[in-house]
Amino acid sequence: KYYMHKLVIDSTNNFAKEIASNVPDGTVIIAEEQTAGRGRLGRSWISQKGCGIWMSIILKPNIQPKEAINLTQLAAISVVKAIEEVFHVESKIKWPNDIILNNKKVCGILTEMSSEIDKINYVIIGIGVNVNCDNFPEELKGKATSLYLETNSKVDRKKLTASILNNLEFYYNAYLQKGFEYIRPICIEKSITIGRQIKVIANEGEIEGKAVTIDNNGSLVVETKEGKRLSIMSGDVSVR
Ligand code: BTN
Repeated sequence: KYYMHKLVIDSTNNFAKEIASNVPDGTVIIAEEQTAGRGRLGRSWISQKGCGIWMSIILKPNIQPKEAINLTQLAAISVVKAIEEVFHVESKIKWPNDIILNNKKVCGILTEMSSEIDKINYVIIGIGVNVNCDNFPEELKGKATSLYLETNSKVDRKKLTASILNNLEFYYNAYLQKGFEYIRPICIEKSITIGRQIKVIANEGEIEGKAVTIDNNGSLVVETKEGKRLSIMSGDVSVR
């Protein structure tokens, strides 16, 4: 519904944060290039000119702050569905928010929120998709890739952006009306994490075990070798 376009910006998430209080639910910020793109856990995100989709969506849902993790998952399934529509390939979600194709990352999501005890002021969903990018720094080559490098087809970024946003609008409305239950089966179907032995660095500490499912809240359920089941709300997962 609402659309703004900046050519070069430090980070669309930073810009979103500046304007978030004064714009409506569903505002989208898209940049052609970011000079200080940010990733999760304080990492930086390479956002070269003209080859990817660097965008942030400002949402103002009437949900509890602890449910914000569901919005990241909505974004993740929307990207997977859009890649399916445009490229006809199946990508997967490394819980909670990396999009993986052929074992390498094509998209990352950085969700940031401003909230009070039981109310969200706004949530910023930052989505970075490596679309037509064809060179990555040596140290990233084993881990990061682009849709072009994996599929050999270059697409109009507008087409993929529109598909991501249309899917996000659809799943966001479905989620607000029907709850996470509606989204959960898709998150499970598209997960590359479930069924694998993993190590998670979470707030609770380091946890090793088998990822068994995603629960009704969107948390990852991990079974430790002692047979204990733990629900993890957020963390950095590595597949063993
Ligand atoms: C990650 O995988 O660590 C998350 C990467 C998120 C990158 C996107 S690009 C658009 C938005 N603006 C940013 O500075 N970061 C996100």
